[in-house]
Amino acid sequence: MSNDALANLLSEDRVFPPSADFAAQANASSEMYDEAAADRLAFWAEQARYLTWEREFDEILDWSDAPFARWFSGGTLNVAYNCVDRHVENGFGTQVAIRFEGEPGDRRDITYAELKDEVCKAANALLELGVASGDRVAIYMPMIPEAIVAMLACARIGAAHSVVFAGFSSEALRSRIDDAQAVVVITADGQNRRGSAMPLKPAVDEAVSQTPTVTNVLVVRRTGSDVDWDDSRDVWWHDIVDRQSPDHTPEAFDAEHPLFILYTSGTTGKPKGILHTSGGYLTQAAFTHRNVFDLKPDDDIYWCTADIGWVTGHSYIVYGPLANRVTQVVYEGTPDTPGKDRWWDIVERHKVSIFYTAPTAIRTFMKWGDELPQSHDLSSLRLLGSVGEPINPEAWMWYRDVIGSGTCPIVDTWWQTETGAIMISPLPGVTACKPGSAMGPLPGIGMAVVDDNQVPVGNGGGGYLVLTEPWPSMLRGIWGDPERFKETYWSRFAGMYFAGDGAKLDNDGAIWLLGRVDDVMNVSGHRISTTEVESALVSHEAVAEAAVVGATDETTGQGIVAFVILRGGVPEETATGEQLVKDLRDHVATEIGPIAKPRQIMVVPELPKTRSGKIMRRLLRDVAEHRDMGDVTTLADPTVMNLIATGLDAGSDED
Ligand code: WTA
Repeated sequence: MSNDALANLLSEDRVFPPSADFAAQANASSEMYDEAAADRLAFWAEQARYLTWEREFDEILDWSDAPFARWFSGGTLNVAYNCVDRHVENGFGTQVAIRFEGEPGDRRDITYAELKDEVCKAANALLELGVASGDRVAIYMPMIPEAIVAMLACARIGAAHSVVFAGFSSEALRSRIDDAQAVVVITADGQNRRGSAMPLKPAVDEAVSQTPTVTNVLVVRRTGSDVDWDDSRDVWWHDIVDRQSPDHTPEAFDAEHPLFILYTSGTTGKPKGILHTSGGYLTQAAFTHRNVFDLKPDDDIYWCTADIGWVTGHSYIVYGPLANRVTQVVYEGTPDTPGKDRWWDIVERHKVSIFYTAPTAIRTFMKWGDELPQSHDLSSLRLLGSVGEPINPEAWMWYRDVIGSGTCPIVDTWWQTETGAIMISPLPGVTACKPGSAMGPLPGIGMAVVDDNQVPVGNGGGGYLVLTEPWPSMLRGIWGDPERFKETYWSRFAGMYFAGDGAKLDNDGAIWLLGRVDDVMNVSGHRISTTEVESALVSHEAVAEAAVVGATDETTGQGIVAFVILRGGVPEETATGEQLVKDLRDHVATEIGPIAKPRQIMVVPELPKTRSGKIMRRLLRDVAEHRDMGDVTTLADPTVMNLIATGLDAGSDED
C-alpha cells in the first residue's frame, strides 16, 4: 500500500456507533471484554460449555509443551453430534438447516432431522468402505449439500477431512492427497459453473492414479455428465449412501482428536497442511459465530458466500453455524449467473438477514453499479460481514449504504486458516466502527502490533501483527512437520504467534490491517504464495527463472504479475509471441489451479538481484504498479530495471 493511501486510511474519522435498537437485542455485550480480561481461561471454559460434552474436561489449557497447545484436556465430544443430533433431540428436527440453491435454479430444503439421517448414512457408508477413526478423507466437491454431509460424516466417525477447493488442479489435489495419505476421495461428477457443467471427476481420476493410499472414490451425481469409471475403486454416492441405515451412534472423541487438515499457501512452494482438532476449534467457531454475527437461531436466515474449500466455509458454513442451529442459504454458483444480480435475488427470496462475504466481491458489485442491488428488496438484511482481505473505506461505506440500507452494522473480521476462527472484529451492538478497520481483538484474544524488536508499538505506530496468547481454535500444527510449524509461526517473535500480516494502530488504538509482509499474495481473498507460482512457472520447459509479485489490483486486492527469463534455445518468435504467455498461464492453471493464473507475464532478459543474488521483489512490485522505482543502486546490474519497465506495458494479458 502506498504511503498516501495509508495516510488517508489512518485519518479516517467517521465513526458508526451501534444503534440503540441493535444494541438492545445483541448477543454480545461489553461485559464480555471485562470477563475475559479478568479470567481469560474461565471465559473460554464458559464458551466451551455451550457445546455438549460426553465427558467434561479436566483442564482448560495445557500450554506446557508450547507452541503445541492442548485445550479442554480430558473432555470428549462428537463434533457432528453437536452440529446436528442435539438440535433434533432438543425438538428442532423440523427446522430447516440448509436452504440449498443450485446454480441452474434447483432448490432443496434440508431440515435438521433430514441432515441427521444423511450424515448417519454417509458415516455408515464410509465405515463400509473401511474408513476408520484417525484416517484421512479428501473432499473435492462443489458447493452442494453432500459436501457438508461428507464433512460431518467424517467428523462423526473421527476421520479427519482434507477439503481441497474444487477449483484446484489435479496436480494440487494429488499432492494434498499424498501429503495427508488420504484413503478415500469424495467428489462429484461435475459442478455447475456459469451455465455449464464443469467436470470434476477427471481431475480426481488423474490424481488418484498416482496416490496408492486411496482405495475408493465416492462420487456424487450432480451434473449427470458422463464419467470414466473404475469398478474396483469408484462408488456412486447414491448406490452406497442411500441404502445405509439412518442410525449411527456417535462416538465421543478426545477434545484434541484431529478434525480436519486444510492446506494453505506459505512462503515456500509446498502448501502447509494446517491441522485443527475438535473441542477448542468448535468452541471458538461457535462462540464467534454467535456473537460476531449475532445469530438468533429461531429468526435469522444466514448466508456466507464462501466455498467449503476455504477455511471460511469450514468455520462459518459448516461448524460454527450448525453448532448454533442456524438456518442458512447454501449456493452453488457464481454471482453473475444467470444475471449479475443473482446474489441480491437470493437475499430477497430467502429473506437473508445475516450476510458474510469478501471485499473483492463487494468491489466487483460496486463496479457493476448500484441499480442491481437496488432493484431487489434487501430490507431483510440486518448485519453484514467481511473477510479475507482489508476492506477499503469506500467499499465499507458502499456495503453499508447500498446493501445495508445505511443501518446494518458491518463486522470486518480478521482471521486465518491457522487461527481457525475470527480473532479481530467489532462486536455488533457493542463496538463503534470506523469504515475499513477491524477495530480490535475479540474477548479472550491476546493481540499486539510489535516492531522489529518485538516491542509493542503505541497508538499511531505500525509493525507486525502478533497473537500473544494461545486461543482455543488455534492450529495444532502443520501435518507431518512439527519443525516447520515452530519455524513458521513461533520463531520470528519469541513466545508469540507471528501471523505474517502488517498492521497499524491509529490514534484511538483501532487496528488497520495492511496485508501480508511475507511472500504470500492475497488474490480475491485467496492466499497464493509467490514461490508456489514461481515453481509452477519454472517447471515449464521454456522457463529458466521466474519472479512473481502481487501488484495492487482495484478489484481483486492483488493481481499476480510474473517476470520470466526464458531458457536459451527458445526460438525468438516463440519468446516474443502471445502464445507463449498463454501457454505459461495455462501451465500455472494446470499445476495449481485457475485462481493462480498470473494476470500478466513479462518475458525479461534479467531479473533485478542484489549482489548476494536475492531477487528484489520490491522493485518488481514497483514496476508492476507503475511506481517510481527509487534507489536501485543496490542492484548488481542497475540497468536491468529500465529494460523491464520499458517492456512492461507490452506484456499485459487479462482474462
Ligand atoms: C488476510 C481467511 C485484512 C490476512 C479467513 C490473513 C484479512 C489472510 C482479513 C488469511 C481482514 C483475512 N482484513 N486482512 N478482515 N481477513 N485477511 O488463511 O492477510 O485464507 O493473514 O483465511 O487473509 O487468509 P486465509
